[in-house]
This record gives sequence, C-alpha cells and structure tokens, in this order.
Amino acid sequence: MSNKPHHIAIVMDGNGRWAEAQGKNRTFGHEKGAETVRAITTYCAGHKEIERLTLYAFSTENWKRPKIEVEFLMKLLERYLKNEKTTYLNGNIRFEPIGDLSIFSKSLRKVIDDVQNATQSCNGLTQCLALNYGGRDEIVRAANALHERAQTITVDSLQAILDCPHDVDLLIRTGGDQRLSNFLLWQAAYAELFFTKTLWPEFNADELESIIKKFKTVERRFGGLN
Ligand code: FPP
Repeated sequence: MSNKPHHIAIVMDGNGRWAEAQGKNRTFGHEKGAETVRAITTYCAGHKEIERLTLYAFSTENWKRPKIEVEFLMKLLERYLKNEKTTYLNGNIRFEPIGDLSIFSKSLRKVIDDVQNATQSCNGLTQCLALNYGGRDEIVRAANALHERAQTITVDSLQAILDCPHDVDLLIRTGGDQRLSNFLLWQAAYAELFFTKTLWPEFNADELESIIKKFKTVERRFGGLN
C-alpha cells in the first residue's frame, strides 16, 4: 500500500532571494511567487488523491518586514484573490483562509469573504491560504475558545476547534531552510517533511510530482510498529 497525499502543506520560501539574484526588488519575487501558487494549485486540483493544499502565505511574524513589503503583499493577496475567483470556480476549487483575519483591512477581508462564499459548494480541491497565521497563535486561540465554552481540553476537542482541524500528510518547504517556522505545528505531528533548495518562484509541478513519488514509498508508522 502506498501513502496518499490527501493533505499537502507548503512553506513557500525563497521569493526574495530569487528576485535579488536577478538584481530585482524582493516584491518582484512575490509577484512571481503568486504565479507559482496558481500553477501548483492547478496541478493539485487535477490530482485525484490530493484533497487539501495549505499554503503559508503570510505569518504572524511577517509583520516585522519593511512596511513597503508588507503593503505590497497585502495588495498582491487582494489582487490575486480577485483575479483568480474564476480559476477557483472553473477548477471546482474551494478556497478557505486560516489565521487571525481580524487585523486585515476591510477591503482585503471583503475579498477573502467573497471568494470563500463563492466557492463554498466547490467539492474538488480545497486550497487553504494561511494568512496572519501562526501555529502557536492558532493553538492559543483554540484553547481560549474551549475555555470560554467551559469545555474540557482533550486532543480531540482542541483539534476540532483549530482553524485547520486536518492532519497534514506531506509538508514541503522550498528555499533550502529546514524548519517549520510556526506553520501547522499541531497538524504536522506525523507529517512527512520534505525540504528542497528550489526557491519558490522556480518550484513547479514536476518537482512536486517527484516529491509525491518519494512520499508514497515512505513507511509511515504513526508511532506504532509496522
Ligand atoms: C517567503 O519568501 C514568502 C513569503 C513570506 C510570502 C509568500 C507569498 C507568496 C508566495 C506570494 C503571494 C501569495 C499568494 C497566495 C498570492 P521570502 O520573501 O522570505 O524569501 P527569502 O527567504 O528569499 O527572503
């Protein structure tokens, strides 16, 4: 039996280095990175075993970046969601955000809501964007929500109330670093981790396919003995 990559999560790292290597602004790398988001999402939507693709688009720590880069990323996200609404609908792709969205501008929240509502009944791939997302923040918000409802904290009750209650099967990080950077800390408990030196703007469906091929051959024991 081979593993099924039902839930793939990706830390999309390397946009800035990719742009700087060509003497361009970091924002150019984010722009190209958005094209990779579209290409990888389209590939996953056409792969019958992939149900969910979660992408780390903006972390709770990314606010520390220069204002000009943060503002660019906010505008890029808004533009991407507006422009890609038809791609989601034509591809039967459901869009879901995770993270604390309360901090975003009214106009960005409106577009997020609009695409989420419009794609609610799509039942192909779910593309989930992690926006102002941090694994620790997600767990703390979930624990507080249980506390407010006077519910007992158990593994099941806490998992059910997370922004993303779905375990990750395959977690990929591009850009050469080998760390989680506060991404899906709970959900990655038994994920298979793959790291590639490829910078996100240069990542493509062929490389994803070869990672999935390797993932399928790994023996997953989930703490037991096979
Ligand atoms: C990390 O690369 C990337 C980010 C913090 C932002 C990710 C954004 C995109 C992929 C594009 C926009 C996304 C969507 C969904 C439209 P980095 O800037 O840290 O690169 P570096 O490590 O080379 O500096």
